[in-house]
Amino acid sequence: METLKLGFIGAGFIAKFQVRAMTQLNNAEIAGVYAKEWSDDFQKYALHHGVGECKVYNSIKELCNNCDAVAIYVPNYARIEVMEEIVDAVKAGAGLKGVICDKPLARTVAEAQRLVDLADEVHLNTSYHENQIHMKSIQNALIQLEPVQRTMGPIALARSSEEHSGPHEPWFWDPTRQGGGVLADMGCHSIAVSQYVLTPIGKPVSFLEPVSVSCDISLLKWGKPDFRKKLMDKMGVDYNKMPAEDFCTGVITFRNPDTGQIVKGQFSNSWMYDKLGLRLLMEGLGPGYTFEVNSLRSSLEVFIADEAAESVSNAEAALEKATATRGLMTIQPNEADLYGYVDETRDTARAFMNNKKALLDWEFGLEVTKMVQAGYMAAERKKTIDLTDPDVQKVLKNFQSLVAQGRGSEILFG
Ligand SMILES: NC(=O)c1ccc[n+]([C@@H]2O[C@H](COP(=O)([O-])OP(=O)(O)OC[C@H]3O[C@@H](n4cnc5c(N)ncnc54)[C@H](O)[C@@H]3O)[C@@H](O)[C@H]2O)c1
Repeated sequence: METLKLGFIGAGFIAKFQVRAMTQLNNAEIAGVYAKEWSDDFQKYALHHGVGECKVYNSIKELCNNCDAVAIYVPNYARIEVMEEIVDAVKAGAGLKGVICDKPLARTVAEAQRLVDLADEVHLNTSYHENQIHMKSIQNALIQLEPVQRTMGPIALARSSEEHSGPHEPWFWDPTRQGGGVLADMGCHSIAVSQYVLTPIGKPVSFLEPVSVSCDISLLKWGKPDFRKKLMDKMGVDYNKMPAEDFCTGVITFRNPDTGQIVKGQFSNSWMYDKLGLRLLMEGLGPGYTFEVNSLRSSLEVFIADEAAESVSNAEAALEKATATRGLMTIQPNEADLYGYVDETRDTARAFMNNKKALLDWEFGLEVTKMVQAGYMAAERKKTIDLTDPDVQKVLKNFQSLVAQGRGSEILFG
């Protein structure tokens, strides 16, 4: 089978998770990597997992000249500079079939629009990697419910939540570099997956019209003096001066343009979930039917007593963001598949090899960015934002939240 030869830009957490996904794929391989740091370690990891030649390159241009498509797995603040270099490489003759960008597409609507425009400038196919939409549990829920959806009507209320105890690298905690707090980082997942499951069967992913957004953001755990100190010591960020939200919740209202039906997506995210590790919870409620996904349910549980715990060195071997090495633990044997990483890259490889956009393209990522930013606007204004108002759309184009400006204290300490 022909494989898509991918070039990875970035060699950190998500790049390594994608390696684990690619061991389960037969239509993609890693041709090379370019990253500011950790390329050599990443190459070893990729070779160990047998997912391609994974040559280390010293520039984006060189990488682009030696692969079929590139994947942007760098921090949010580096998206634009990286994409500009990709575009320069294509203009200089690199024959890329497409470009992937992981969530969130960007820190602001203006940055997201810039990325879309850059890809358009050189006619590159795009893929927005929102893994949760590709989760087998989500896809199977929709397949199972297709007949009842057709007879009873579409899902009318979606609930989606992603929570863990906090990110792994300092830049995630710095709202100016990341683009906000947990709403920017994980709200984008929950909003996107809600919109997706609310979309009537057979309609495109951007079919529903976002009508309004309400949202609350708060700093509930990491603003407390002892946790602020921990953050300062471990991550070098000062939440006394420049805080970001560790909790967000809100509702997005969508309208079906064919029938006028109103449906709602409720999202809830936190960096203060001190339980077994990362938890994804999704629900879809339709007339006469429901689905529920809980990523912490597994057929495998392990118990480790205190006296045996010293021999366990890596809590995350059990589950992403796990913080404990003893007691009753949930183990997910195949997280890369569970979270949708396998299927998102399979979809992208199939699309790019057929010269097409993937299921989720950057236009979709731009729409998600708009809803996330409208969430910040709603939280700042303490009112529901009307997305059908042309003035709101105009303001959103250049909106940057107080949190992302480093002025989070004005809203989170009020
Ligand atoms: N889908 C998910 O659930 C998920 C999970 C984690 C991260 N992510 C996303 O993936 C992206 C990367 O996150 P991460 O956790 O892997 O970060 P990370 O900090 O672990 O790794 C970042 C990598 O990018 C490199 N890098 C930084 N600036 C660069 C530049 N200008 N040019 C080239 N390389 C550069 C770093 O050297 C490092 O190798 C983020 O946008 C994040 O939101 C998505």
